[in-house]
Amino acid sequence: MNEEAIFQRLLALVEQYHAGRKQGKFLDYLDPDELAAELDLDKDAAGDWQQLFQWLGKYLQHSVKTGHPGFLNRMWSGANLPSIAGEIITAVTNTSACTYEGAPVSTLMEHYMLQVMLDLAGFDEGEAQMTTGSSNGNMIAMLAARNQAIETCKEKGLFGNPPLIAFVSADAHYSLDKAANILGLGTDHLIKVPVDEHGRMRPEALEMLLQQHQQQGNRPFFVCATLGTTVRGAYDPLPPLVALREKYDFWLHGDGAWGGVALLDEELQRHFLPGIEQLDSFTWDFHKMVGTNLMCNLLLFNHHRGTLRCVCSAGEHSYLFREEDKNAELDTGTASLQCGRRVDSLKWFLDWKYFGREGLAQRVRHYLSLSEYAEQTVNSIPELDMTVPRESFNICFHFRTPEDISGNEFNLELRNRLFKQGISLVGIAYIDERLTLRLLFTHPDYTRKEVDHFFDTLVATGKELLDEHLQG
Ligand SMILES: Cc1ncc(COP(=O)(O)O)c(C=O)c1O
Repeated sequence: MNEEAIFQRLLALVEQYHAGRKQGKFLDYLDPDELAAELDLDKDAAGDWQQLFQWLGKYLQHSVKTGHPGFLNRMWSGANLPSIAGEIITAVTNTSACTYEGAPVSTLMEHYMLQVMLDLAGFDEGEAQMTTGSSNGNMIAMLAARNQAIETCKEKGLFGNPPLIAFVSADAHYSLDKAANILGLGTDHLIKVPVDEHGRMRPEALEMLLQQHQQQGNRPFFVCATLGTTVRGAYDPLPPLVALREKYDFWLHGDGAWGGVALLDEELQRHFLPGIEQLDSFTWDFHKMVGTNLMCNLLLFNHHRGTLRCVCSAGEHSYLFREEDKNAELDTGTASLQCGRRVDSLKWFLDWKYFGREGLAQRVRHYLSLSEYAEQTVNSIPELDMTVPRESFNICFHFRTPEDISGNEFNLELRNRLFKQGISLVGIAYIDERLTLRLLFTHPDYTRKEVDHFFDTLVATGKELLDEHLQG
């Protein structure tokens, strides 16, 4: 096949997949052994485009259709079309976004978008970068805080210093535990602060822990406020945490991976993120609720110009970055932990320009109103129960079971049946050891009709499963 024919066939395949993404089942499920046999991974295909297309076809056939309304498992689904267009161009141009020299357009788009985000967050004189995701964003924020707390840390390491202590809420994302491991703190030095009945960090409990660690001669240096927790969607309260920072002098970071979208709408920002402009740093994923292709993350620093570059750079790199180059200041690679950097800015820029802030804000408001509707629906169905009341975008609920049937096992079985039958894939999590189904809305064209359909099929399957349990 010549290149023209390859592109024609490829684009036709892409178009066909995208057009059919909402049809049929969301997954043509096979067990791993069956799928491996189907894929024939050992097959030789040297120079054989027909075979490559067969694999592409099978990839699409057996992939989870994340754009299907039944796909509700994660904090993202499908992807915006402008962003998909950006990804295709990114793939075909295949450059590394680390220098202006090697990625001129991407570099300018990245700087442009980051400045827009700094302004949205109200971070004056700030700086920012795109990272590989909020896990990374959280870690870089902790890294900057660590190097600020122990000024010699970059060169000398942690040796000979009092233990550094970081604090997060008990419901924070596990990426903070990873960061504590990677950065040499040790996961025991990441303290989980108890949460209130809403799932929010309790500031008075944080203060007691700060005092306790100070008295023990430890150095509290970092507090991460989760702004939209992964399971419950709770927002830690910023104003009291800012007040504690004044007293105890720590770096205050905001993990808005999921709930940072509230920034898009002024009213939601006031409601969910009051005081955001006073954070030291903030991370947010555009690849979650906003629908930009994975990965699309931003990390913002407030009043710390030059910190990112200082914290993230090390070693001799003049083969890549040349200070004498008049555009060197624009190089994003020197402020990044990576060497090669994927171009994530093009898709982000296109989405932003196409939908605009207001278009995306509307989407977020729509998700919030669907969440309200879903909560009302759960409360109106006798078979279902909210595991905890809704805090923001997340609906945590379960199917009620009689006392002699384990609710956790039943709900897991129900969820797996819906999955294997290709009906829907909904998230699960534990809240106080109770398994909960976690419903999130990230499909822009989802309406109440789809919400009703989701609950109808879930309840019908749940009743069927319950009958089987009771009979047998
Ligand atoms: C609150 C929170 N923080 C961080 C992350 C990690 O984000 P990423 O997948 O972009 O690394 C998640 C992902 O679910 C999250 O919910």
